[in-house]
Amino acid sequence: MELRKINIEDAFYEWQFITELPAEENGLENSYHGISYEEYVEKVLPKIMSYEHAENMPDWFVPETIFYLWDGEILVGEFHVRHHLTEALRTGSGHIGYSIRRDLRGKGYGTAGLKLTLEKAREIIPEEEVFFRVKKDNIASKRVLEKNRAYVTGEDDEHLFMRIRKQ
Ligand SMILES: CC(C)(COP(=O)(O)OP(=O)(O)OC[C@H]1O[C@@H](n2cnc3c(N)ncnc32)[C@H](O)[C@@H]1OP(=O)(O)O)[C@@H](O)C(=O)NCCC(=O)NCCS
Repeated sequence: MELRKINIEDAFYEWQFITELPAEENGLENSYHGISYEEYVEKVLPKIMSYEHAENMPDWFVPETIFYLWDGEILVGEFHVRHHLTEALRTGSGHIGYSIRRDLRGKGYGTAGLKLTLEKAREIIPEEEVFFRVKKDNIASKRVLEKNRAYVTGEDDEHLFMRIRKQ
């Protein structure tokens, strides 16, 4: 299993993944559900690849790197790493978001993919801990976090806030 940064060579598989993910799931929105391959390659891919750098972005923008988890030739999931926290991220969605292909869930990919993503995140983010927010009823994601040694730091009505120490 390996993580590969989003790239043009893998465009077809990246498009297949993103277009098949639901438009909304567990509070994660996917505005690219159902888009055509042409639109993905011409508009979406250049845009989301550019998110890695803050050039020509508004002040509030935090750069974000998208990694895909591959098992051999199969793209199984997506992990987003936001490069640092702002107040909004600290009290909101945190550093990392992830999804696994629907037909491949429950096979350990979420847990293994987060472990690999944490290795990348350790190199990218300056904070001592990696921040997460998870819906209280999202049992699978909570387990993925717990199995990567996350601990709960707070909650609101709907969510738990969790962190993983970098060291
Ligand atoms: C959350 C998600 C990434 C988990 O990925 P996954 O590959 O299915 O996770 P794993 O196979 O590594 O499973 C992790 C644990 O969750 C459990 N689990 C998986 N699916 C489950 C389900 N539907 N209900 C209850 N537990 C579940 C597994 O049994 C495992 O626990 P165990 O080791 O104690 O048995 C995946 O379900 C997903 O993409 N969900 C939609 C997007 C999302 O919610 N992202 C996270 C937002 S915070």
